[in-house]
Amino acid sequence: MNNENYHIPVMAKEVINLFKGREKGVFVDATIGAGGHSAFILEFLSPKMIIGIDRDPKAIKICSKKFERETCVKLFHGNYADMDKVVRKLGVQEVDGILIDAGISSFALDDERRGFSFQKDGPLDMRIDTSERKNLGDFLDEMDEHTLAKILKEYGDVVKPYRVAKMIIQRRKEGKIKKISDIVQTVLEVFPSFGRVSDEVRQVFQALRIAVNNELFFLRKGLWAGLKILSIKGRFVVISFHSGEDRIVKSVFRLVSQPMRLLSPEGLVRDRILPIAKDLTPKPLPPSSEEVRINSRAKSAKIRAIEKISDRSIQCYLVKEGIDE
Ligand SMILES: C[S@@+](CC[C@H](N)C(=O)[O-])C[C@H]1O[C@@H](n2cnc3c(N)ncnc32)[C@H](O)[C@@H]1O
Repeated sequence: MNNENYHIPVMAKEVINLFKGREKGVFVDATIGAGGHSAFILEFLSPKMIIGIDRDPKAIKICSKKFERETCVKLFHGNYADMDKVVRKLGVQEVDGILIDAGISSFALDDERRGFSFQKDGPLDMRIDTSERKNLGDFLDEMDEHTLAKILKEYGDVVKPYRVAKMIIQRRKEGKIKKISDIVQTVLEVFPSFGRVSDEVRQVFQALRIAVNNELFFLRKGLWAGLKILSIKGRFVVISFHSGEDRIVKSVFRLVSQPMRLLSPEGLVRDRILPIAKDLTPKPLPPSSEEVRINSRAKSAKIRAIEKISDRSIQCYLVKEGIDE
């Protein structure tokens, strides 16, 4: 198999099951990556159109080739935070299914020139969108110890975040952090691992990647952008891989699945607004043990999904969340 096509889509069976009943519809694969999930949608749902978006230009290049014969697949390089604009630019008003499969693709992780992997040495890059300016090196130059410690704690659950942050910032200032292996080395000095790569290194890398790409900010924006273009009975499926992502998906999906109370300036309930969605996964779906056995990447995956039930009050939710139309 071609190296660029080997990404095994995570929880693809569950995604297809959640989209059942929306056959021949319009789907947004908001993180098309190597096209694994889109290939499943093509095979099992006979879509009228798949709008494939990715922040990584390489993903669009790979999918242009992979889907060159599939005229219903429309590809866009961009951020899913803008998916409503992408969809409407195509003249499409609403879509029947949206998928976000968060994180980065295997081809980016495996490419040492991208600087995502602690297992390969590479430049201080970590940009998902290689056309953006700010890479990991620039990010570290602008960082102070305190903010970096907060990032390590919040996005990576790193223990001793202040110790790690202090060492990274100090060494960067001294010109001793120039490549990925210098960061690995620094973390290993705080958490000696005796041979195998420690979980702490993994956690530090996850936190840095999320921060460099502002991933959680865009995830929240992407959820609201998707809600705007979802049809009634349309479904929004999100696969997340760590607690920071899942917290955001859970909070937005819970919020839109519950009635909203509008309060008067005196704090009295003035009105109750009907929810715009039905929560299909009060408990997130885990991958099957069989899938985890075959694909270790699926281990930490979780699916949350909602179905849109009304459009009447979406404006109220958008205003409350400070999302502009
Ligand atoms: C786990 S991969 C998706 C794999 C894909 N589902 C497949 O089956 O091949 C996640 C993808 O999301 C992309 N991505 C991450 N953040 C994004 C964003 N804010 N907007 C659009 N794409 C994003 C990454 O570049 C990566 O290609």
